Amino acid sequence: MLVRSLLSAGVDTTVYGIANTMQALAANPDQWAALHAQPSLARFAFDEALRHDSPVQTFFRTTTQDTEIGGTTIPEGEKVLLFLGAANRDPRRWGDTADRFDIRRTASGHVGFGMGIHQCVGQPIARMEAELVLAALAERIERLEPLAPPVPRLNNTLKGWSHVPVRVHAA
Ligand code: HEM
Repeated sequence: MLVRSLLSAGVDTTVYGIANTMQALAANPDQWAALHAQPSLARFAFDEALRHDSPVQTFFRTTTQDTEIGGTTIPEGEKVLLFLGAANRDPRRWGDTADRFDIRRTASGHVGFGMGIHQCVGQPIARMEAELVLAALAERIERLEPLAPPVPRLNNTLKGWSHVPVRVHAA
C-alpha cells in the first residue's frame, strides 16, 4: 500500500511541482537571481510555486451529513469540488499580490497539499526532493533564459507543462 501511494500520488504531483517551480523562476529572472544568490531559499521557492501554480488544482470531498455553506444546504453523501488553485490565489488571503510569484513571500498556509485530516501525507518527502533539486540547480546556474513560451500539458486535475524551453547559463 505504501509503494502504491508513492507511485500513484507521489510521482506526477512532484514532477509537476518541480517543473512549475522552474517555469515560474524562468519567467521571473529577479526571482532566479535571488535563489542563485541564496540557494537556501529553495524550500520557499517550492512552496511559493505550489501556491502560485498548484499542481493539484481541484480535489473532491464527500459530505458525511447535511451541510450549509454560504446559505446553501448540501445534502449528505454529495461530492463537493474544492478549488485549491483558486484558494491559493484568493486576494482575501493573499492580498493584491496574489498573482505575483515571490519566493520571499510567506506562502505557508497555502492549500496546495490540501487541508485537514487528509492533507497530503507525502509532503515532507516532496519538499525534500524539490529542495535538493532546486538548491543544486541554483548553485550551478546563474541565469535561466526562456527561449519560447512554455507549452501547457492538458489535464483535468493537474496543472503543469509539457515543455519549458530554456537556455541554461552556467555559473
Ligand atoms: C508536490 C507534490 C505533491 C502535491 C502537490 C500533492 C498534493 C496532494 C493533495 C492536494 C492531496 C489531497 C489532500 C486533501 O484531501 O486534503 C494529497 C493527498 C495525498 N498525497 Fe500528495 N502531493 C504531493 C506529493 C506526494 C507524495 C510524494 C506522496 C507519497 C510519497 C503523496 C501521497 C499522498 C497520499 C497517500 C495522499 C492521500 C492522503 C489521505 O487521503 O489521507 N503525495 N496530495
